[in-house]
Parts: sequence; C-alpha cells; structure tokens
Amino acid sequence: MSITPKARPNVEKMSGYEPGEQPRPGERVIKLNTNENPFPPSPRVLEAIRHIDPERLRRYPSPSAEDFRRTAARVHGVSPDMIVAGNGSDEILAIAVRTYLGPGDVFAYPDPTYSLYPVLAEVGDVKVVTVPWAAGWELPIDALLAAGARAIFFANPNAPTGTLVPTSRVRELAARFSGLLLVDEAYVDFSDENSLSLVREFANVMVCRTLSKGYGLAGLRFGYAIAAPAVVWEMNKVKDSYNCDAVAVSAAAAALDDQDYARRTWEHVRAERARLGEALRRRGWQVIPSQANFVLATCPGGDAGAIYRALKAKGILVRFFDKPGLHDKLRITIGTAEENDQLLAALSAS
Ligand SMILES: Cc1ncc(COP(=O)(O)O)c(C=O)c1O
Repeated sequence: MSITPKARPNVEKMSGYEPGEQPRPGERVIKLNTNENPFPPSPRVLEAIRHIDPERLRRYPSPSAEDFRRTAARVHGVSPDMIVAGNGSDEILAIAVRTYLGPGDVFAYPDPTYSLYPVLAEVGDVKVVTVPWAAGWELPIDALLAAGARAIFFANPNAPTGTLVPTSRVRELAARFSGLLLVDEAYVDFSDENSLSLVREFANVMVCRTLSKGYGLAGLRFGYAIAAPAVVWEMNKVKDSYNCDAVAVSAAAAALDDQDYARRTWEHVRAERARLGEALRRRGWQVIPSQANFVLATCPGGDAGAIYRALKAKGILVRFFDKPGLHDKLRITIGTAEENDQLLAALSAS
C-alpha cells in the first residue's frame, strides 16, 4: 500500500504563486503580460555563453558567483562582499525570508504589491501584515512601523502600479526601522531614482535587483542583492551552495558589464512608456504614471476582463488580475514601438 505523505499544514493550505501565462513554443503572440524587456540581451551575453570554457562546466561553479560579484561591485561602486547572487531575484527574496523570518514572525509590506511576497510568507509560516498604500501611492511609513515587523519588503517601483517612492521617503523609513528593510528594485532600471546609496548609509537596508527586466534576461534566471557585508554573510549561510550555474554567472557578468547597451534599451522603453500612456489616455483610459516597464491602466467601461479576453483572441497577451480593486485595470508591459502600435490598433478595433 502506498500513502501520499502529508505536506506541512501551512503548505497544504496554500495555493502557490500563479505566474503569468507563457505561450507554447512556436506560438506567435505579442507578449505584454510578464514585464520582460522587449529587446534581446547584449550581444556580449551570447558571446560569453558561446565561449564558455568546458572546464567550467565540468567543475562546480564558484559558490559566490565570483565573476559576477566582481563586475557588479565595480558597476555599483560597492565591495564584492556586499553582493549575493541568486537564480532570479525571486530566489533572493526567498533567501531573505528564510534568513530573517521564522514561523510566527511578522512580515509587513504595503499592498497591493508583488504577489510572491505572501507565498514566501506562507511557505515559511510567517505572519503577514499588509498595509494599504497611502493616498497617491505614498509609502505608509507610520502604519508599516506600527506592524511591529521583523522585516519590511516593498517593490520600488511597485508592481502592479509602476509607482515610485522617492529615496528621501525610503531613507525616512530606514532610519526609523530596526529590522530588515528590503527594497525590491526589479524595475529600477526604468525609473528616475534608486535607493542604492541607502545600503551604504544603513546596516539594515537590502536592495534587490534582477537581470530579467533591464537586461533582457528573464530566461537566464539571475538576480542579486546589495547589502551590508554582515547581511550578505548571513544570506550566504542560508542559500544553496551552488545556486547560480557557471553559464549564468558568465552571461550575467557580461550583461552587467555592457551598461551602454542596457541603457539604450531603458531609454527606448521610457520613451515608449510615455507614448503608450498618452495614446491610452486619448482613448479614455486612466493611466497611473509609471516608473517601470509597464503601465497599470483603468479601462473605459470598467470591464477589463472582457478587454483582456478580446486582446488574447487577437494574439495579444496583457495581464488581468482577477482581484478586488483590479477588475477594471490591465497591466500592460511596454513592448517595441511596433508591438505597442498593434496593441493600440487592437484596442481601437474592439
Ligand atoms: C517586483 C518584482 N520583484 C521580483 C521579480 C522577480 O524577478 P526575477 O525574474 O528576477 O525572479 C518580479 C517579477 O516579475 C517582480 O515583479
């Protein structure tokens, strides 16, 4: 007789993270639903992958992704021991939760935000306190502090709103909070400001970055955190020894090294973001001013689900969240100029 083992009760209860839909291989769609960069990665990335020394595949990779850490340290003006790399920034977020939050500890974040945070909390049996964003998508500093949390996370720019909290407000929270303050900067490459300087100022601030958005490498799975050496030290004890493979480390280092290429894609996305936002407004949509590579827009008529389905039938994927407060909204990733034009044409026709 075989018996299905019982999962931990908190795991049994949870439904898990729901990723945005991915087209089947070979399926031709305009994919504006998971905030990827519309441009391919730097040619130097493909070169690094092609020229990987077979010896590096035979051996285990550097446990600390040393080549990447050195490059990232140079690019960001910090020391290598302030960087920890992961298999996507999702892994960094998971390592941070495992390092700083145990069962019953309070984990606070403003809501709505990245829907992975509650999943990580459920896995760890961590107690979540969500705090609504203040009017105008301001950081609700007092309410976050009142939660009595051991760690506060927030995405900046936020998802799914695309709104940015100015560094001065992040600094205010960092100065008044004694737990871990994780600033998830997955979309920061497309924004006017970042909070990196706070990592040097405060021992409790961690900035989390990814190569999935700004560097066109969502398929590679590479992210990293920048924090005080003592924080990185603790994270290193918790992470898997070889969490980043040798190919990914080489490719990620090459991507970060080619800042000129990446910047050109960021500029293009920012220009298209302004153009798409304006065009949607002219069609009667309300568009939240975004600092990310997507916009959250309220549709005229209020039935965003119907528009989502009509676009999907035409081969255009956007993100619809079947959640309270989001039924009249679509989150639209900024595509190439051609993709955005096709989206606008499809909206005009429907
Ligand atoms: C706010 C936020 N943080 C982190 C991530 C994860 O990025 P990665 O691909 O590096 O795991 C995402 C992905 O959509 C995101 O929206």
